[in-house]
Amino acid sequence: MLIALCSLHGSPGVTALAVALVWQWPKADVVARLVAEVDPAGGDLAMRFGLPITPGLVSLAAASRRPQKPAVVWEHTQFLPGGARALVAPPGGTHARAVLCTLVAAQGGALVQAVSQEPGVVVLADCGRIDPGSPAEPIARRADALVVVTGSRADDLAHTAARLGDLARWTPRPGLLLVGDGYATAEVERELGVPTIGRIPHDPAAAAALTGHPPRERRRGARGLARQTAALARALAAPTPAGPLVPNTEVAVPGVPPQLVRQPDGTVAPGPQPLRAPPLPSAAAGKEWRP
Ligand SMILES: Nc1ncnc2c1ncn2[C@@H]1O[C@H](COP(=O)(O)OP(=O)(O)O)[C@@H](O)[C@H]1O
Ligand SMILES: [Mg+2]
Repeated sequence: MLIALCSLHGSPGVTALAVALVWQWPKADVVARLVAEVDPAGGDLAMRFGLPITPGLVSLAAASRRPQKPAVVWEHTQFLPGGARALVAPPGGTHARAVLCTLVAAQGGALVQAVSQEPGVVVLADCGRIDPGSPAEPIARRADALVVVTGSRADDLAHTAARLGDLARWTPRPGLLLVGDGYATAEVERELGVPTIGRIPHDPAAAAALTGHPPRERRRGARGLARQTAALARALAAPTPAGPLVPNTEVAVPGVPPQLVRQPDGTVAPGPQPLRAPPLPSAAAGKEWRP
C-alpha cells in the first residue's frame, strides 16, 4: 500500500506525521513499513535521527538508471528507531530536487510504487509541499491514498482550497487532515465542501519525539497527538475508501476572494490577485477547535 502525504502551504508537520504513521501502523499482516522521503525541498529524517545520507534516495536514483526489481528499494533504506525503515533524502533542496527528478524520470517512481504493492508492505511517501510541477507529483499520483495536511487557519486554508480540487483527482482516496487550532472542522468541511479524514493537535512535546528530540518530560497533551495519529493509521490501513473529496460547486473559503478558488471544473478567474489573510471573524473564532 502506498500512502502519499503532502502539504500546500507552510510546514504543517508532514514529515512528523509520516513518522507517526509508520510507527503506529497496525502491525497485523504488515511485514515491512517504510517512510520514503520524496520531498524536493530536501530531507529531514537523516539529520533528525542521526542517519547517514547514503544509502538513500541518492543511491536509489543512481541504481534506478539500470533495470531493477522492486526489492532493490530496500537496499537503499535504513532502520529508523522503532523498527520501520526510511529512504532518506539529502538535506539540500537543490540536490534533493535533482535526485528526485532523476528518480522519477528513470524507473524509480515506479519502483517505489511496485515495492509498496508487495504483500504486507506499507510505504508512507513524504512528498513535502507539493507545488505545481513538483517532481514528487508522479509518486503522489501513483498512491493508493493521498493525505493533504493543512493548518486550520485562514491563510493555510486559502492555499489549500486553491489546489484541493486538482489534488483530489490524483488518487482514489484523497483526504484532508487538519492540524492545530483554527476554524472548526465542520466549518472547514462546509466551506471547502470536502470531508476531513481527521484532525491532529498542535502538540510540540509529542512532535519533538517524532523529529528525533524526545521531550524531557511527558506532558498531558502528548498523548493527544499519538492517539489521533494512531486512529488515522487505522483508518488509512482499512480497506474501506474514505468519502469522496469533491469540492462544492460553489466553493467558498474564509478570506479568499471566490474567484481565486479553483472550481470543480478546474477553472479559476483569470489574473493573479494577492491573497489576503484576514483575521478570523469573531463568530468563527468562538467555534475554534481545541484538542
Ligand atoms: N502536531 C504538531 N504539533 C506541534 N508541532 C509540530 C507538529 N507536527 C510537527 N511539528 C513541528 O513543526 C516543525 C515542522 O515539522 P515537519 O514535520 O518537519 O513539517 P513539514 O514536513 O510539513 O515541513 C517541527 O519542528 C516539528 O517538531
Ligand atoms: Mg517535511
